[in-house]
Amino acid sequence: MSADPHPWARTLEGLHAQAWARLGRGVHDRHATARHPTLATVSAEGRPQARTVVLRGVERGSATLQVYTDLQSAKVAELRASPFAAVHVWDSGAHLQIRLQAEVTILSGVASAAIWAQLPQHGRSAYGSAPAPGAPVPAALDYSKTPDPSAFAILSLAVTEVDLLHLGTDHRRARFRRASGWSGEWLVP
Ligand SMILES: Cc1cc2nc3c(=O)[nH]c(=O)nc-3n(C[C@H](O)[C@H](O)[C@H](O)COP(=O)(O)O)c2cc1C
Repeated sequence: MSADPHPWARTLEGLHAQAWARLGRGVHDRHATARHPTLATVSAEGRPQARTVVLRGVERGSATLQVYTDLQSAKVAELRASPFAAVHVWDSGAHLQIRLQAEVTILSGVASAAIWAQLPQHGRSAYGSAPAPGAPVPAALDYSKTPDPSAFAILSLAVTEVDLLHLGTDHRRARFRRASGWSGEWLVP
């Protein structure tokens, strides 16, 4: 019999630690699956909205993630109205689905200036457009991108719940909640 490739999935702490390690890899390795999670918000009409983002920061100690975005984008308006988001990653290498719930703080202006100062020039062009992201235009390329520090926002996601599904020889699912000190519990997959 071959050795279990994912022994970490057998314990709650092992599973939880693996999820944060995989998320952390997404920040530092552009080829990691968690580099591009799906971020879901809720529109003013109560409809789910999901889009791909780049994971820019992960800190397990505070259970927070960071995403950079354009302050004029629809997701920012949605988060101002309802500061709740979900994040989804399917890490096929680890056979692990990571689902997070989070409360989001929008940092801009002085609060995002230090990070803006560190961004390479080519990275800045994603923030600042005329007209604003999502605006209708007569032709596909009828817009301009001009790096604009006042359009740069950091979404700081304080994770409140982690739901993990591991599809190994056996299937295991567990949930961890900030409100329970991240102690974790097994769920039926
Ligand atoms: C690979 C990839 C990475 C992306 N990364 C980001 C990102 O880090 N931040 C961001 O705001 N949009 C990012 N986008 C664009 C979003 O998916 C989305 O189209 C855009 O932010 C507008 O979304 P909204 O109208 O819901 O705000 C990325 C798209 C792709 C395909």
